[in-house]
Amino acid sequence: MRVLGIETSCDETGIAIYDDEAGLLANQLYSQVKIHADYGGVVPELASRDHVRKTVPLIQAALQQANLTADDINAVAYTAGPGLVGALLVGATIGRALAFAWQVPAVAVHHMEGHLLAPMLEAQPPQFPFVALLVSGGHTQLIQVTGIGEYTLLGESIDDAAGEAFDKTAKLLGLDYPGGPLLSQLAQQGVTGRFTFPRPMTDRPGLDFSFSGLKTFAANTARTHGDDPQTRADIARAFEDAVVDTLAIKCKRALEQTGLNRLVVAGGVSANRTLRDKLASVMQQRGGHVFYPRPEFCTDNGAMIAYAGMVRLNSPQTSLGVTVHPRWPLAQLTPVGQ
Ligand code: KG4
Ligand code: ZN
Repeated sequence: MRVLGIETSCDETGIAIYDDEAGLLANQLYSQVKIHADYGGVVPELASRDHVRKTVPLIQAALQQANLTADDINAVAYTAGPGLVGALLVGATIGRALAFAWQVPAVAVHHMEGHLLAPMLEAQPPQFPFVALLVSGGHTQLIQVTGIGEYTLLGESIDDAAGEAFDKTAKLLGLDYPGGPLLSQLAQQGVTGRFTFPRPMTDRPGLDFSFSGLKTFAANTARTHGDDPQTRADIARAFEDAVVDTLAIKCKRALEQTGLNRLVVAGGVSANRTLRDKLASVMQQRGGHVFYPRPEFCTDNGAMIAYAGMVRLNSPQTSLGVTVHPRWPLAQLTPVGQ
């Protein structure tokens, strides 16, 4: 059984083919970073238009990479949400159209379930149950996972997601979009301990997060200490340490609360080296295990969507129902009685 996966929820076009016996057969990724860099963030309309240009050629490239034809594909999985509606519609429309033409099932995949299951693509996948920390540009969530689709939300961000906080802080330090990885690089040159940022919401019970204050803290520190290169690096260091520490404290709390000792970390921010090292040592101390996707599968990609599509293929929960009207002739409007 082979599933074609299509990811177009934000600024990456990701296409992959997953085979339930042979594993991943093809993986193609096109990042729109250059298109959005001038604007300092994702411009939704530009994202949608670029997905239109890239999705079909990347599907062709994936088929070629796997040495397959359309006849070899048994299902088409596409990201149905959450994400930018126009961008989602591109993948959903192409995915559904191909599935119809090829007479195979189409599977609507939840983007965050894709992230959550991405570590299953690795040689030593986690076994259920586990605690998952999902840290992306749009979400920061702690979830108790007892099986596929059995998700209990333990806590989440009440304001900015971790990735969003990285990107916004990077921007105020003068770094390009997307700032997360650049801020992390800058932090390497920073001096630990010159500045100490708060660990938000760790002084009270609960598993929710709040990262927006750290961005303000970074702005205030830059204002009072100047913005010479070393100070900027020291601010980056203090910011990254605060985010990583806060995530680690809440992960420990979630493991204690659930009595579990397996932790899965996924989503764009799980590519962060400092976070990976910190959680690895936390889990080692606890005698538990931490599982990550390989760095390229931490950020958005088609492989996780193809995989999630495969596990959802026989499940009735396949429709997330993205219903919009991309074309809406005025003549279709119903008259308003006078
Ligand atoms: O999962 P993802 O690719 O897209 C969403 O679903 O949002 O996550 C993108 C986010 C961005 O905010 C990006 O800055 C952040 O992940 N990110 C990082 C790193 N790599 C990506 N943040 C910190 N350190 C990194 N190495
Ligand atoms: Zn994502």
